[in-house]
Amino acid sequence: MNETHALHGAPKSRCTFAIISHPDAGKTTMTEKILWFGSVIREAGMVKSKHGNFAKSDWMELEKERGISVSSSVLSFEYKNRALHLLDTPGHKDFSEDTYRTLTAVESCMMMIDSAKGVEAQTIKLMDVCRMRATPIVTFMNKYDRDALDPYALLENVETILHIHCTPMTWPIGDGVDFKGVYDIVHKQIYMFDEETDPRTPHILQAHDLDAPEVVAYVGDTLLEKLKHDLEMVSELLPPFDRDDFLAGMLTPVFFGSALHNFGVKEVIDFITDYSPGPKPRLATLFPYTPEAPTKEISPEDPTFSGFVFKIQANMDKRHRDRVAFMRVISGRFKRGQRIFNTREQKEIKVTTPLIFQARDREITEEAFPGDIIGLTGRYAIGDTFTEGELLKFSGIPSFAPEIFVKVNLKDPMKAKQLEKGLRQLAEEGTVQLFTRHTFNEKILGAVGMLQFEVVKYRLEDEYNVLGDYTPYPFIGMRWVKFTDEKQQDKFIQDNSNNIVYDLKGRPCFAVRSEWDLKLVQDKNATVEFFKNSDYL
Ligand code: G4P
Repeated sequence: MNETHALHGAPKSRCTFAIISHPDAGKTTMTEKILWFGSVIREAGMVKSKHGNFAKSDWMELEKERGISVSSSVLSFEYKNRALHLLDTPGHKDFSEDTYRTLTAVESCMMMIDSAKGVEAQTIKLMDVCRMRATPIVTFMNKYDRDALDPYALLENVETILHIHCTPMTWPIGDGVDFKGVYDIVHKQIYMFDEETDPRTPHILQAHDLDAPEVVAYVGDTLLEKLKHDLEMVSELLPPFDRDDFLAGMLTPVFFGSALHNFGVKEVIDFITDYSPGPKPRLATLFPYTPEAPTKEISPEDPTFSGFVFKIQANMDKRHRDRVAFMRVISGRFKRGQRIFNTREQKEIKVTTPLIFQARDREITEEAFPGDIIGLTGRYAIGDTFTEGELLKFSGIPSFAPEIFVKVNLKDPMKAKQLEKGLRQLAEEGTVQLFTRHTFNEKILGAVGMLQFEVVKYRLEDEYNVLGDYTPYPFIGMRWVKFTDEKQQDKFIQDNSNNIVYDLKGRPCFAVRSEWDLKLVQDKNATVEFFKNSDYL
């Protein structure tokens, strides 16, 4: 482990972002190109190579066996005088809860779409999460080197399904074998598609006059007619780029290209670097953190340090069986050796080895600023807030409703205590959600994907020496419930006792057995509110 200094600069220079996409749209390929532009890797193909697996982690045996990426990590690098933090998110849908939580720690997102397919299921879910914080989105229509849908149809598809306005910044000329490149709508020039060109300096054809002989010669009559027609439609029907609408998450600038060929990638990274917001203020609840407790906005300019944990990664270094809690700095300046206060446990810790992550390396950092991500080793919980002593808790790091459920039956009943301890710790880390039935003290695990349960099984055996059988439980969803008063709460719980469970924090939830069941209860209890995530406080 090397010692290094943090990426220097004023807080506004931080750009903390993530890529959202449906599996196979090209996120790993794009990550690799971004790292190449950020000079983190020197050769294309390194991210997925067997020897240098940068973007995908291979820390856990399970990941190796399955050949999938369970974990997300942080990739930090400098680009155009900004410190970029790309928060990598697991591609596999079974770990999407991890991705949802990571999205609570970013200031903007790049959305990648497979241009042959348009908007796909996972992207819809991820956009819903982005919308919770009105996160600005930059869109990249990928794989134009292959046959693609018509660009206008793609934009309509995004607008209709994702309910966000689109403003194309570039426009594709042809697709597949006829792909000629993209027209830069703002600068009125064509970036020529040529696999041999250095992506940093694409061949540019000035195209202020689309009838200029060199433009006609390069594009060809048929594609030129289509380009002119498309550009006319765009200028008449689509809104021009508006920075405020972008920052409000209402409008997405759209770029076209091919991540595989590193074409159009530079434009989209440049855009993110130039336009993505720096660290924003964040709302916190003051002690005792109840729904009635007062809230306070913490600004990145506040001189006192604060931050929160959005992700916990176990077994990053298998030899040490360690846990790294990824903490996003919200305000103040963090210095190595500083004493910070965990407001959940109300306990002070001294951070002697704060980590930062640069591709495959983790290094000790001397300082960190708002927008930075630092790794703390030790046992913490998702959502833990750290301050210089002020008792507050950042909001906006919810639990998301699980979709599948199991019950653990112990093979050795003497291990009940270890099981309870293991499950609680894994739930605090966000590996799985743990619920307790109202009617009797039975523990139910909730997850978004089956593989989450496999991780739990593996880790309970490996770390807690607990063997169990995992039997499916007949719930299909979960809703956090909010009542107008205690009397209503008591009656609701009494009437629905078989469906009532409590989450890790003791909040009552309604376990859904069928959509019909849910609808019936909602109709019967019109003033009770049902939430798909726990962030209703
Ligand atoms: P993901 O992380 O979003 O799941 O996607 P990934 O980057 O792994 O890309 C999925 C597949 O799509 C890969 O092919 C990748 O090479 C291909 N791909 C990504 N971007 C482009 C592009 O711009 N054009 C074309 N033609 N293909 C692209 P694969 O065959 O599944 O994997 P591999 O054997 O190439 O690694």
